[in-house]
Amino acid sequence: MASDIGLFLGQLLTKPHQVVALAPSSRALSAEMAATLDPAGGPVIELGAGTGRITQAILDRGIPAEKVHSIEMNPIFCDKLRADFPGLNVYQMSAGDVGDLEVEGAQAVVSGLPLLSMPYELQNAILTGTFKQVGTAGTYIQFTYGPKPPVKTEIREAMGLTWTTSRKIWGNLPPARVYRFSCPGS
Ligand SMILES: C[S@@+](CC[C@H](N)C(=O)[O-])C[C@H]1O[C@@H](n2cnc3c(N)ncnc32)[C@H](O)[C@@H]1O
Repeated sequence: MASDIGLFLGQLLTKPHQVVALAPSSRALSAEMAATLDPAGGPVIELGAGTGRITQAILDRGIPAEKVHSIEMNPIFCDKLRADFPGLNVYQMSAGDVGDLEVEGAQAVVSGLPLLSMPYELQNAILTGTFKQVGTAGTYIQFTYGPKPPVKTEIREAMGLTWTTSRKIWGNLPPARVYRFSCPGS
């Protein structure tokens, strides 16, 4: 774990607009991100996997690596994910293209992306592509450090998104909440 903090901070310094976090997600936040996944359900798509903290929590929840599809744009993080998680499906690509992934019957998209700092077009592509993958039964799971939902109001309203929020996870730097979005009309 110490080695992944060094790698994370190195990439934060070279690519601050992509990493946009002070540290990798804590064990407590990662566990909350994975808490509602069904081990017997469909595949899970992960966005912005970074050094793999949330990936590990998804596997700890009982989802086999072969059923996890992790998208990450940073090639150095992709190399680490492939080395650390045999069987994991790793895609070096933009999360904006999540709708193009060939995955049947995904139950959820779990996102460690810095969604709040992303422009409208990219957020819209991520949410539209997500609900193309998971349909009305699936969820988009996203943490945020701020007090408001991390998806822009225009997108929430246009897509008719509904959501639930977790308790505040104090054991994270900074403290965060997990939002679970559904799209009843997709
Ligand atoms: C805040 S870090 C989170 C890393 C890890 N999931 C965690 O929680 O510790 C955000 C990650 O999203 C990746 N990222 C940012 N924009 C992206 C995009 N458009 N497509 C795919 N990955 C992206 C960054 O490279 C970085 O690894």
